[in-house]
Amino acid sequence: MRLPILLGFQAALALFSVTEARNDADEFLERAIKLMEDTPLLDTHIDLPQIVRSLYRKPLDGLAKLNSTFPGHVDIPRMREGRLGGAFWTVWAPCYDVTGDDPGADFLNPTDHLRDALEMLDIIQNMISLHSNDLQYARSSDDVWAAFRAGKIASLIGMEGTHILGNSLGALRIFAQLGVRYLTLTHTCHSAFASSCGPGTPVPQAHEGNALSELGVELVRELNREGIMVDLAHTTIETMKQAIALSEAPVVWTHAGARALWDHPRNVPDEVLALIGDGPGQKDGVVQSIFFPTFIGPYPGSNVSHVADHIEYIAAKIGKNRVGIASDFDGMYLTVDGLEDATKYPNIVAELLSRGWTDDEIRGALGGNLMRIMDAVDAVSARLKKERLPSSAIWEKRTDLPSTKWGGGGQHNVYWPPDVKAAVEKMYIRHDEL
Ligand SMILES: *[C@@H]1O[C@H](CO)[C@@H](O)[C@H](O)[C@H]1NC(C)=O
Ligand SMILES: *[C@@H]1O[C@H](CO)[C@@H](O)[C@H](O)[C@H]1NC(C)=O
Repeated sequence: MRLPILLGFQAALALFSVTEARNDADEFLERAIKLMEDTPLLDTHIDLPQIVRSLYRKPLDGLAKLNSTFPGHVDIPRMREGRLGGAFWTVWAPCYDVTGDDPGADFLNPTDHLRDALEMLDIIQNMISLHSNDLQYARSSDDVWAAFRAGKIASLIGMEGTHILGNSLGALRIFAQLGVRYLTLTHTCHSAFASSCGPGTPVPQAHEGNALSELGVELVRELNREGIMVDLAHTTIETMKQAIALSEAPVVWTHAGARALWDHPRNVPDEVLALIGDGPGQKDGVVQSIFFPTFIGPYPGSNVSHVADHIEYIAAKIGKNRVGIASDFDGMYLTVDGLEDATKYPNIVAELLSRGWTDDEIRGALGGNLMRIMDAVDAVSARLKKERLPSSAIWEKRTDLPSTKWGGGGQHNVYWPPDVKAAVEKMYIRHDEL
């Protein structure tokens, strides 16, 4: 008689603790949603524009469908259900290895990347204006708050990779005018500017020291001046270290994890985390933790807790005021359990709450930390615009400048006024004499 009674008692206890755990989980989720309703969750990497480009021959024709069920991880109803406060929409074009282009050792072979990047920006602008009840363009932290308070999803622009810049700082400055808020120094390929950690496996070295080129050094200075965040996701450790040392403004990783937890080249190693902070020789910055299982842990088997492990690991190294959230939705072919699409954002917030994060720490991780960095980057930009002119640097391997190939029509096949023609011809003579 005694045994069954004891078992019954234990069963009752077990039932009690299951119910209690469920109540706790509900409570964390409720608290998460409440926090997300008072502070915007800013996701720094969503590849939705590329999905539109992948599905439609005339991409603008696909935009009307974003307010209903849309393929992939993200559409407006799901972002609303997931209480997303703001997103950085990604301007990107596939690297050379994917498109089959060969940039050549000097990165001079023409590609369609710059056109494609401009078309991505056009898609983003049209998406925002077509869905102006749900989306509102934002660049600054003030813009983010204005959008959030108006009940809209703040829509910012991030640019991923420098292979899409046509090797040109002039192109970068025009992208700055168009509102690009961060630039990832590489995607999975090297560029004329910087060295990439590759698509998961290293790629043959392109620049001395496997870091920035001379033009890449100018690029970082120019990003600081333009107020575009320097994003070190996808880069080599050497690129990270050189850019951190050079940058006059804080740096960011818009979608990455901790290498000590999962040894993948896309994750930030401890030796680099050690350079982030407010101590001597350190620079301020944030690491926005990614959901992509390949960078998180074993697959299958990784879930929202593993993503939180990365956030907590990075927070332990550089502070809870230097972490954030970046899904990589629509840019990955796998998802972790519990973060399958844009409806699931509250799960990661609830997970951090269950680990004892305070409301204020959560507000930081949602977007407060990143917005502090955005403000600091804007302050550096305002100062530098007073201190120096835009960089006149060009990619040193270019052979098209000065631009003397006018061709067609005019007297002697040129349109130059006579004194210009004389000067150009003198230049040619100098060339010939070399
Ligand atoms: C979705 O957006 C399109 C384009 O703005 C609009 O015509 C349509 O009425 C919207 N549908 C819903 C359900 O809001
Ligand atoms: C995630 O998986 C681990 C086992 O790897 C488990 O202990 C944990 O409870 C899971 N987290 C959630 C939120 O389900």
